[in-house]
Parts: sequence; structure tokens; C-alpha cells
Amino acid sequence: MKIGILGGGQLARMLALAGYPLGLDFTVLEPAADACAAPLSRHIQAAYDDAEGLERLAAECELITYEFESVPADAVEKLDASLDVFPPPSALATARDRNHEKTLFNELGIETAPFAEAHDLRTLQLAVENIGLPAILKTRTLGYDGKGQQVIRPGDDLRSAWEAIGEVPAILEGLVDFEREVSIIAVRSVSGEMAFYPLAENVHEQGILRLSTCLHDDSHQPLAEDYVKRVLQRLDYVGVLAIEFFQVGSHLLANEMAPRVHNSGHWTIEGAETSQFENHLRAILDLPLGSTAPVAYAAMVNIIGELPDTRVFLGMKNAHLHLYGKAPRAGRKIGHVT
Ligand SMILES: Nc1ncnc2c1ncn2[C@@H]1O[C@H](COP(=O)(O)OP(=O)(O)O)[C@@H](O)[C@H]1O
Ligand SMILES: [Mg+2]
Repeated sequence: MKIGILGGGQLARMLALAGYPLGLDFTVLEPAADACAAPLSRHIQAAYDDAEGLERLAAECELITYEFESVPADAVEKLDASLDVFPPPSALATARDRNHEKTLFNELGIETAPFAEAHDLRTLQLAVENIGLPAILKTRTLGYDGKGQQVIRPGDDLRSAWEAIGEVPAILEGLVDFEREVSIIAVRSVSGEMAFYPLAENVHEQGILRLSTCLHDDSHQPLAEDYVKRVLQRLDYVGVLAIEFFQVGSHLLANEMAPRVHNSGHWTIEGAETSQFENHLRAILDLPLGSTAPVAYAAMVNIIGELPDTRVFLGMKNAHLHLYGKAPRAGRKIGHVT
């Protein structure tokens, strides 16, 4: 069975690593020549919207998935016309746009920070009047690792904030004074079987995830599962879905969702009975899902920007090193340790 993946970064690489024991093969469509999933797959080097590249991918593969939500909607629809694409393109369309995803959360009774849409300076002014300051201005699409975001504090110049995010369609949301950030990783198969990992507590710096700790029996687990279940069912979802929350008292405010395997679930490779990567593949292939139970206490630290002396980790009992084969660059995730 050959699975096609749009995107050839570390998430595709870890999907392939989880898939080979199940007898699967992988082809990635990825424009970068040095894609880190390339050594583990067949690499079609082409732009995501390249017609010929997409045709080759469709011809080679029986099933398509993706490792990031910014793949062009047209490309996904083109593939969806001839073979199954999971998670479903409608879920992708919702998750790639912050305004759509937050609107869906609220429709489903899931709390969020207050937010308002802004598509020019005038509507940004209105949004500020509605939401109040401090607030955070975020591009509706294409943001990741804190990119495309600008915090606005009382007295800040709105025009420079608008320019800082590139004057593109955006949302303004209230800055949340949260106690913790947590995320839930859930998975739903083609036949509708669902499973949920324990919550992870996440620490971000400059918008980039640094540390995820798997929580055991956290009191917010039932609410997080209830929320993510609503989304899975509404979107007739297939695959792994992650939702990031801000926790304030007994409330969980949904921040964003990712229609894919997620960095805050990397601990599951060694820390759970079945990893998020294997369960994503099981779900899209309509195989029974594996147990999401933790096998130990687990936490994951990202290696960002530069490579430390990795012998330190290898010398630590129960530490597991993952390097993605990527060239170090400021702000770039090049590996993790669980
Ligand atoms: N409304 C907010 N209030 C407080 N902190 C926020 C808010 N929005 C984002 N952040 C901080 O920035 C991080 C990245 O923002 P997020 O919306 O998750 O975008 P990205 O797509 O870059 O992950 C969050 O994990 C959180 O630490
Ligand atoms: Mg995020």
C-alpha cells in the first residue's frame, strides 16, 4: 500500500518511520530538494500546486494525507477527485483559516478568546473597539510557530501592527492570561472509531513550542475530550486532529486546531502504547486504532536552531533522541528529545 503525503518535513518523516512496520510505502510531494522525509520515501520534487506533480502523486498512491494545513485547497480538491484524501478537504478548509476554525468552535459551544475579523485598517480599528487591548493580531492563514502575529498593547500604533503582519486578512483576538496551555491529540478512523491521548501541557517561547509534558489523569481531560469529539463528529473527520487550548480555571479556551499529527504529540512515540503517527495511518486506512494509553511519564523537548552535544541525551537513561536530518537555522525545529 502506497501512501502519498503532501509535504516532506519531519512530520512526513515520522509518519513514514511509523508506517514501514505496517508494510506501507510512502511518496512525498515537496518542493524543497533537501526535504527531510526524502531519504525515507519517493520524493516528487514539485510545487504543491504543480499539475504534473499532483498527477504523478495520484498515479503512484492509493491514499493521500498531508503534514501541514497550508497546502493549497485546489491541490487537495484535485487529488480528492480521483482518490481518498484524509483528513477530509472540508476539515482542511476550516483548520487553515483562523476565522473559520474559531467560528466553528463557537458554533459547537467550545469557548475561545473573544475575536473579530479585520481585513483593513478600518475594520482593525473596529475590532480593537470591540475586543479591547491588549490583543493579538494574527493572519487568518499561513501562520505557524508564532509567525504572522503581532501583539497590540494600549497606545500602540495600529497602522504599524497592520503593516507588521503584511496587511493581509486577519483576526484580532483578546490576549488570554492563561494558567497553562494544553493540547489534546485525538484520532478518528474511517469507520468512526475514536481515541484520545492524555492532555499535554505545552510551554511556548516566542510562539514556538519548547516543551510538552504528558499529563496523567488531569481534571481537564473530560472537557477536552468532549470538545474535540464535537469537532471530529461535525467534520466527519478521519485521521489525527490536535486542538490547542488556553486553560483558565476550569475553562478551556480553544486556540487553534491542526488537522494532522502535531508537535505536542511527539512524546507518544516512546511514551504511549501507540504513537500518534501510527494511529493516524491506522485511522486513514480504516484499521483498528491502537491504545493511546501512556506507558510511563513522558515529556518532550524540541531542539531548535542549533544542535547541542547530543551525547548528553544518549547518556541519559530513558531519554530518546530524534534528529530530523535538517540543517540548523535560527528558529528551525531540527529534532526533539523525549
Ligand atoms: N490570544 C492569545 N493569548 C495569549 N497567548 C497567545 C494568544 N494567541 C497566541 N498566543 C501564544 O502564541 C502561541 C502561538 O500562537 P498560535 O495561535 O498557536 O499560532 P501558531 O499557529 O503560530 O502556533 C500560543 O501557543 C500562545 O503561547
Ligand atoms: Mg499553535
